[in-house]
Amino acid sequence: MIFDVAIDNETDLDGWRAAARRLRLAGIEPADVNWRVGQAGPSLFGRPAPEAAPGALFTASRAFLDLAGDVILHRSDQRLDLLYRLLWRMKDEPRLVEIASDPDVRAAAIMRKSVREAIHKMHAFVRFRRVESAAEETYVAWFEPAHRVALAASDWFVRRMANLRFSILTPEVAVHWNGKALSTSTGLDRGQAPTEDALEDFWRTYYASIFNPARLNPRVMTQHMARKYWRNLPEAEIIPDLVSKAQGRTEAMVQAGPTSPSHRASRIAALQASVSAPDRAAPPQTMAEVTSGLLQCRRCPLWRDATQAVPGEGPATARLMLVGEQPGDQEDLAGRPFVGPAGEIMNKALAEAGAPREDFYVTNAVKHFKHEMRGKRRLHKSPGAGEVRACRWWFDNERRLVRPKVIVALGATAARAVLGRSVSVLEARGRVEVLPDGSTAFVTVHPSYLLRIPEAKAKAAAYGDFVRDLRTAYALATTD
Ligand code: URA
Repeated sequence: MIFDVAIDNETDLDGWRAAARRLRLAGIEPADVNWRVGQAGPSLFGRPAPEAAPGALFTASRAFLDLAGDVILHRSDQRLDLLYRLLWRMKDEPRLVEIASDPDVRAAAIMRKSVREAIHKMHAFVRFRRVESAAEETYVAWFEPAHRVALAASDWFVRRMANLRFSILTPEVAVHWNGKALSTSTGLDRGQAPTEDALEDFWRTYYASIFNPARLNPRVMTQHMARKYWRNLPEAEIIPDLVSKAQGRTEAMVQAGPTSPSHRASRIAALQASVSAPDRAAPPQTMAEVTSGLLQCRRCPLWRDATQAVPGEGPATARLMLVGEQPGDQEDLAGRPFVGPAGEIMNKALAEAGAPREDFYVTNAVKHFKHEMRGKRRLHKSPGAGEVRACRWWFDNERRLVRPKVIVALGATAARAVLGRSVSVLEARGRVEVLPDGSTAFVTVHPSYLLRIPEAKAKAAAYGDFVRDLRTAYALATTD
């Protein structure tokens, strides 16, 4: 017998969870379920799903629920069946989602990857246009995401544009931020998004300035910036022209000796300088100003290749500050510090040290991800002394505003930023140094150092020392 089950809309995770729970408790096999979206009447053959017995319970792992949260955003018609099949199988195989070679788990992982990529593309390719007719400063963007990620991707924009009003229109849903709350309405036509405004010229000028004909690789370029996104991008209009002239320009560049900046280059430099003006003019007075200033920072060239600046996070009055080197690949995408593998081991050590991460303001000496491309992979590159110096302006402002009692420097780059000189971590480790602003600096190793130790015993010993250092630093800050 086939059971008909409807969820309210394509991304209705709560509806799916409630229905899946009922079905599994009632012992309905995946092959007997017909998943539908919306309230259209019952299918010819289906029956409504039975109610579960009162009080009947089971739990699904957090890993599965996280996975389901991503997979449901995929456009595949198979996703609801796949999720229920996984849930059903977890009855006998509770750790199923950890078996990467399982075909169902693999299918779900592939969907999750596409969804995450769609979110990443949305962050990279949404272009807002100012609505001139609106009384308050308001921006609108049109975007057609590869999957149903419009709402899931929006928090990222809220964090960056918290003080503005904006709408992101997509064919399926429109997401609106009014400066206080996020809301949604039904999808819209492309025609309802504004197309032209002053920002368009800015984007075109900017894109032309960063386009390097000598490094043109059209195949890689279209891989990273698929043509379907072009019509949404002001700069796309000039790409064919730039590409067609690339070879000639490269030859000319090789022929020509060094020149003084052209009128156009000076104009672009002035434009860029005006973008970075807020952070040069006046020191930020609030953490929100630090964040918004950082997003426009051009103090060193690292911003060009990074997805975004990664500001610090944590209580603005924290007694403890944890300082890392720079965001890694995952931090660069997420816009938050220490969310990747180094963050994972650091969180574990903090928990073991009885030093909750929530008590720390966590930041980095350098706020943009420095890396080099190796094929499709972005490999971490350590920031140089110049980049640490350039970013120190932000770090000093964070210190001035948070006024921590203890600053824990994780590794050599952080120690350089905190102490203002280069030190050997192994020598400086565990010593306290009172800084001119009255705070106490405490140096320890960087958590990624622990990840690189191959031998288990040495790794466990180094981890134990790290936990001990964190416990000492926490005690320094919390005992008067
Ligand atoms: N390593 C760091 O130093 N900082 C991060 O935020 C992540 C990894």
